[in-house]
Amino acid sequence: MEWKGCKVLVTGGAGFLGANLCHELAARGARVTALDGFLYGGGANPANLEGARVELVRGDIREIDLRPLCEGAAVIFNLAAQTSHMGGQLDPLADIAVNAVAQVRLIQAAREAAPDAVVVHASTRQFYGRAQRLPVDENHPVAPPDANGVSKFAGEQYWMIEHRVQGRPVVSLRLTNCYGPRLRIRDARQTFLGIWIRCVLEGRPFEVWGGAQLRDLTYVDDVTAAFIAAAEHPACHGRIFNIGGAPPASLQDIAELMVRLSGGGGRYVTREFPADRARIDIGSYHADDSAFRAATGWRPEVGLEEGIARSLDWFRPRLAAYL
Ligand SMILES: NC(=O)c1ccc[n+]([C@@H]2O[C@H](COP(=O)([O-])OP(=O)(O)OC[C@H]3O[C@@H](n4cnc5c(N)ncnc54)[C@H](O)[C@@H]3O)[C@@H](O)[C@H]2O)c1
Repeated sequence: MEWKGCKVLVTGGAGFLGANLCHELAARGARVTALDGFLYGGGANPANLEGARVELVRGDIREIDLRPLCEGAAVIFNLAAQTSHMGGQLDPLADIAVNAVAQVRLIQAAREAAPDAVVVHASTRQFYGRAQRLPVDENHPVAPPDANGVSKFAGEQYWMIEHRVQGRPVVSLRLTNCYGPRLRIRDARQTFLGIWIRCVLEGRPFEVWGGAQLRDLTYVDDVTAAFIAAAEHPACHGRIFNIGGAPPASLQDIAELMVRLSGGGGRYVTREFPADRARIDIGSYHADDSAFRAATGWRPEVGLEEGIARSLDWFRPRLAAYL
């Protein structure tokens, strides 16, 4: 696919994954519009798009006229979402409004203004719920553990209907925990790793809840590569894929690695899972992403050690912009 001059819309483009994707697309010469509502508590940060040749439109997908933004787009990367699990539990109506209702708004606008655009939708492994078997493939039953899982599943399914009924090339990527530059590190709203990175860089101890749970963290450059590969490979269109990352490691192992790579400032304490979190926790997870690897040749390139080291190095001089 020729990205040079290609018109691309990235929803959620000022957020963690969206901004990293915008940087890469702009570097490839694409004409990128990033739409972002800078939602409270999300990963949007004005610093995220610094240095990228990207047009930023501040607007809310629940309200803004989406047709002019879709007009002429060859690819829509759809990452805007309410991503907080606790947030979804506390205010499920707001959660549905973004993750499901506004998805239908975007679908309708794109039908009018960009009928041929390829859509790559950011989905999540969250709605598999507690894994019945590991690794989890795409045929694993769906059992959302929380309201956010329900709304994200609904949003994905509206997009897949758009493929089946309208024939639009849609790819949905069910992501696992992602990390790396431009992550929200102010607090724990965007994975535990955000707050761990902050604490390590500030020389404060971070908390490990439980510790035995397995995760297959994906470094953000590998996520960006997966989004681009999904758009580029027609064999992906109309399909749903799991995206995994580094080989599974326990939270305890990841914490040890953080401490070792911290250069001396890292410490952690282990505590019981807080009761309100434990009720929506999914336990151990790692993905079987062999279908996506087979369809595209993609595979994660950045191991955990390298990814954590790169993340700490990236944030160290930029800490103030992310607190
Ligand atoms: N980061 C992960 O580990 C992970 C894991 C699984 C799935 N995902 C999915 O990937 C996508 C991107 O996640 P992220 O980690 O970059 O989160 P993020 O919060 O950094 O990015 C989402 C962006 O969407 C924007 N947004 C939210 N509601 C909006 C609205 N109504 N109108 C306009 N913009 C709005 C936010 O302001 C934010 O910048 C999401 O769809 C998320 O569900 C992420």
